[in-house]
Amino acid sequence: MTINLILLGPPGAGKGTQAQRLVEERQLVQLSTGDMLREARASGSEMGRRVAEVMDRGELVTDDIVIGLIREKLEGSDAAGFIFDGFPRTLAQADALDELLAGMGRKIDAAIEIQVDDDALVRRVSGRFTCGNCGAVYHDETRPTQKDGVCDQCGSTDMKRRADDNAESLRTRLMEYYKKTSPLLGYYYAKGKLRSLDGLREMDEVARDIGTILHEQNLG
Ligand code: AP5
Repeated sequence: MTINLILLGPPGAGKGTQAQRLVEERQLVQLSTGDMLREARASGSEMGRRVAEVMDRGELVTDDIVIGLIREKLEGSDAAGFIFDGFPRTLAQADALDELLAGMGRKIDAAIEIQVDDDALVRRVSGRFTCGNCGAVYHDETRPTQKDGVCDQCGSTDMKRRADDNAESLRTRLMEYYKKTSPLLGYYYAKGKLRSLDGLREMDEVARDIGTILHEQNLG
């Protein structure tokens, strides 16, 4: 069975954290446009240079760039399923995704909204760090590494904090979310695909709620 899921939610809601768990537990492929754009930046490519300032300010990158990135990953892939993490973020991106998947004989099965209030988002984003080697996501308080500064998953000591995880960028990111991405909640609701859950709960409980939603949809 193929499963194609979208994780929706404001910056810091826990989309990446839950996507990584789904990859481990269900062998799905995580497609995070944020990660793809950060890779492009790190590679020093022309596109990476163009998007760097936009990302640091907390604004959305243009639709054509992110749709192009997703198209490249989907074309020719025979994965059992995809978790779209941070994509789509605009109605134009949602339409493009529907078209791309239709071309592959696939469709979105569910769009899962992770609801978290703004105060908690500030705490989450300001305590976040990630492994520069394998991408595992940690938090100073809620998910520290077992050994200080060493990744639990791959043993790397290359821990990174994101340039856009500061109060000013976060304000812009939140505004971008409410203005441009939150209309997608109505879009997927109207299609009968939207499921929402309380993202303020512990990570394990959120993961369980996602499992329940998938089970109710006969998706595993
Ligand atoms: P992107 O990388 O997608 O960032 P984001 O949407 O702002 O989301 P985050 O990665 O900040 O948060 P998350 O929800 O994944 O939370 P996480 O699991 O890390 O995008 C970055 C930028 O790229 C954008 O601003 C834009 O410029 C550009 N971009 C990307 N995609 C684009 C697109 N489609 N179109 C246009 N531009 C695009 O969790 C956060 C922290 O909380 C972690 O420390 C974690 O350990 C902790 N945590 C997680 N869950 C819990 C829990 N239940 N309880 C307690 N702590 C928790």
